[in-house]
Amino acid sequence: MEFVSIPFPELGFSVPYVPTPRHVAKAMLELAKVGPEDVVYDLGSGDGRIPIIAVEEFGAKKAVGIEIRSDLVQIAKEEVKKKGLEGRVEIIKGDVLEIPVSEATVVTMFLLPDLMEMLRPKLERELKEGVRVVSHEYPMAHWKPVKVVRLEDEHMYHTLFLYVKGRSW
Ligand SMILES: C[S@@+](CC[C@H](N)C(=O)[O-])C[C@H]1O[C@@H](n2cnc3c(N)ncnc32)[C@H](O)[C@@H]1O
Repeated sequence: MEFVSIPFPELGFSVPYVPTPRHVAKAMLELAKVGPEDVVYDLGSGDGRIPIIAVEEFGAKKAVGIEIRSDLVQIAKEEVKKKGLEGRVEIIKGDVLEIPVSEATVVTMFLLPDLMEMLRPKLERELKEGVRVVSHEYPMAHWKPVKVVRLEDEHMYHTLFLYVKGRSW
């Protein structure tokens, strides 16, 4: 019998849902120095925790999460509504390879290297000079990190890579 792998993007199967622990999410936003002038995009936003923390705890002007899985989009939207953040946190159901990100001043991601490599030309095309990009766990091939941070908690290590357009690529 032959087994074939059938791509099924609705399930986001190529990048499983593994939420970033909240303290690591905060460290990502700190590394990017998120503040009131920022528009934060989380690519593959899961339950929406990074956009929510960006607005609620870092005072970002706006945050957007892009997520392919409908169940996670629904969870994130409910949380945004519950917190009364609808005006400032937007959750978009869609593919990160298709949704425009040009308004971002900060981009965060926790994706696998194959998807990151597919995303790279889009980010290089769309992001403005000075935009900060923070990747959790995996480096972006061909970009030079401005800073690499290693966090350790009782369970595991987390590596964060900071890139800045104009300095890293
Ligand atoms: C490792 S999880 C990270 C979730 C969240 N960013 C966090 O740090 O807690 C990766 C997320 O990316 C989503 N994803 C995978 N491929 C995607 C794609 N092409 N477009 C949008 N979301 C995608 C998955 O469904 C999953 O929720």
